[in-house]
Amino acid sequence: MNSSSASHPYDYGDAEYWDARYWEQGGSSFDWYQRFSALRPIINKLIPSSSKILMVGCGNARISEDMVKDGYVDLMNIDISSIVIELMRKKCMHIPQLKYMQMDVRDMGFFNDETFDSVIDKGTLDSLMCGFDAPFSAFQMIEEVNRVLKPGGIYMLITYGDPSVRIPHLNQPGCCWKITLYIIPLS
Ligand SMILES: C[S@@+](CC[C@H](N)C(=O)[O-])C[C@H]1O[C@@H](n2cnc3c(N)ncnc32)[C@H](O)[C@@H]1O
Repeated sequence: MNSSSASHPYDYGDAEYWDARYWEQGGSSFDWYQRFSALRPIINKLIPSSSKILMVGCGNARISEDMVKDGYVDLMNIDISSIVIELMRKKCMHIPQLKYMQMDVRDMGFFNDETFDSVIDKGTLDSLMCGFDAPFSAFQMIEEVNRVLKPGGIYMLITYGDPSVRIPHLNQPGCCWKITLYIIPLS
């Protein structure tokens, strides 16, 4: 994970860090890792446009808006930062396909079990892995992602983490993922 701001590595797991960062950025947008254009072939292949999708740790990335332009109709976006959720809610209020809610991905009790066809995570598990108590945070997050997904649903994890480090977190008790790995070239 790289960042333009000099910060303590553990900051990525803190709501306060992200609130301050999004406050500084104001209404601008930034996509970590990859833009939708680079991910589009994989997303289109695995996630039908009619899917009910949960974007966890949405930040101020443009990917959800770009997915709507591409035909996706139902995207719930959550983030632990209330600042970014308010900014995005205002920015996207004219896009009915997008909803925004402040929520901790480790406790998504607001959503019933088996609500979503797909969960997209671009950099959010990675953030938790940089925080304090990272293994437990990752455990809680994956348990919740597994719970809110419909049977046969897809968790698309877009990560800079090495598979040997990330996959053990996915394969926790109660989860039985069929894992397919795609390598995306840097764009
Ligand atoms: C690396 S950024 C990625 C942002 C966006 N997904 C993207 O692709 O540009 C990680 C995001 O996860 C959010 N986040 C960190 N911890 C979280 C948590 N426990 N629950 C929900 N969101 C969290 C941060 O606020 C931040 O927006």
